[in-house]
Amino acid sequence: MTKELTVLGIETSCDETAASVVRGLAPGPGRILSNIVASQIAAHRPYGGVVPEIAARAHVEILEETVERALAEAGLKIDDLDGIAATAGPGLIGGVAVGLTAAKGLALASGKPLVALNHLEAHALTARLTHGVPFPFLLLLVSGGHCQLLICEGVGRFTRMGTTIDDAAGEAFDKTAKLLGLGFPGGPAVEDAARTGNAKRYRFPRPLADAAGFDFSFSGLKTAVRRVADSVDFDDRIVSDIAASFQAAVVEVLAGRTRKAMRAVREMDLNIHHVVVAGGVAANESLSRLLCAAAADEGFELVVPPGRLCTDNGAMVAWAGLERIQLGLIDSLSAVARARWPLDRRSESVAGAKA
Ligand code: KG4
Ligand code: ZN
Repeated sequence: MTKELTVLGIETSCDETAASVVRGLAPGPGRILSNIVASQIAAHRPYGGVVPEIAARAHVEILEETVERALAEAGLKIDDLDGIAATAGPGLIGGVAVGLTAAKGLALASGKPLVALNHLEAHALTARLTHGVPFPFLLLLVSGGHCQLLICEGVGRFTRMGTTIDDAAGEAFDKTAKLLGLGFPGGPAVEDAARTGNAKRYRFPRPLADAAGFDFSFSGLKTAVRRVADSVDFDDRIVSDIAASFQAAVVEVLAGRTRKAMRAVREMDLNIHHVVVAGGVAANESLSRLLCAAAADEGFELVVPPGRLCTDNGAMVAWAGLERIQLGLIDSLSAVARARWPLDRRSESVAGAKA
């Protein structure tokens, strides 16, 4: 296929109501014709986290306008599209249902193909939208709900090497922000506070850093942060130092495990030369600095999409939908919203078992 495709993407799985129009052809890069992200941060801030009921209602209220803005900014009408993609899971089921149902309505009315997309696949393929990264690649997927190392062999073809056995990396950032009174959303707030902090002041644990396999664990780190936080009187200096020390522990673990995975895939001779980082935590600059150094040492090319494409957005959904439509992977109007939807159902990885 040589004709470029133009796809609308709708994202409503958490607290961003997002719609975007993307044009291109796999393997990318593609062009983002519009990318509207209506954040609900202000609505959730008083509660210190995302409230599913509030999120679902807010998606209902602003989705139509968000889609209209995405089309208007792209200068297109529904009829100009080659398809409509929406996140169908995993995520907060109420919000997912709102986006997926809207996409079904648009697809039905326009006769355009529908793609009911896995949100994690959308994060994973973002590096093809931005950089045209070829398959296969090694993927560190770090978001509010997930923390996984995967080999991505193609669209819908993922082999999991490791995952978190408790909290996700983004969740650890969010919980630490709450403990430190840094508010919501936690990741960017902790990163900001950490900029002026001394990362060596507190020596927090690096959970599973030297363990076999590729799994992660962050709950012990959270407990260690709480212990310190409970034993001191907060001032700006201490908050910055705790934030910096916590961030150093998380990013060292993430980069260390990813380095180990690079070595493993090289030994397995899988023809993998790229390491991609995706999901909201990929926006963390100190993580990308460490990953960059690790990739350079190990002879891999690191690809980190720009921050606004790492956190939830419609462009990643539109692009992943575009790749699926290009392969003829269309979904029926009876596609269901799913709260849980692993990229790879295998609980044990081949690579993990060997390590
Ligand atoms: O991918 P995403 O937008 O939503 C999910 O699919 O979960 O990721 C959101 C997560 C949140 O936990 C947020 O605190 C974290 O990504 N995050 C960050 C940064 N920006 C967002 N974590 C660390 N540093 C950041 N700069
Ligand atoms: Zn996400």
